[in-house]
Amino acid sequence: MAQMRADETISRSPAQTVALGRALGARLAGGEVVELCGPLGAGKTQFAKGLALGLGVDPGEPVVSPTFVLVREYPGRVTFYHCDAYRLGSLEELVELGLEEVLAGGGAVVAIEWADRFPRVLDAPTVRVELAYAGADRLVRVVMPA
Ligand SMILES: Nc1ncnc2c1ncn2[C@@H]1O[C@H](COP(=O)(O)OP(=O)(O)OP(=O)(O)O)[C@@H](O)[C@H]1O
Ligand SMILES: [Mg+2]
Repeated sequence: MAQMRADETISRSPAQTVALGRALGARLAGGEVVELCGPLGAGKTQFAKGLALGLGVDPGEPVVSPTFVLVREYPGRVTFYHCDAYRLGSLEELVELGLEEVLAGGGAVVAIEWADRFPRVLDAPTVRVELAYAGADRLVRVVMPA
């Protein structure tokens, strides 16, 4: 089995979840997929806001749920693509949109809320972020690729 490294943190506030996302974003070189998993209201979008900050997206740019479009695109140190698998029929749609080529070029990070609804299809190093309720707080587990 491949070696994985997982970090677990209890996040006690939305701001702390944003900070965790920011720290991860700052470590990404470009070319990675970030799967954001966890139930309704677990903090996937809060974490994505932080990812955007860590990737150098303009802090004045509001990162909101990609509700009416398949993917939202934010320019930064590398381009940040934010999608919600609830809007997709499968992750193949992201391949059809050309995101695999963009990832292969190293010029982008693709974050997918509810990624675990579908089998993984994007051929790229993948970080899995699992958010879970822990009372009023959240348990945030970040699993880095081998
Ligand atoms: N520690 C925490 N981390 C993140 N969010 C928290 C935390 N504590 C409370 N919250 C609240 O939980 C909600 C998380 O909302 P968010 O939109 O990020 O969830 P989500 O997982 O994206 O939901 P959805 O499944 O609807 O997309 C916000 O209302 C936020 O204020
Ligand atoms: Mg969300």
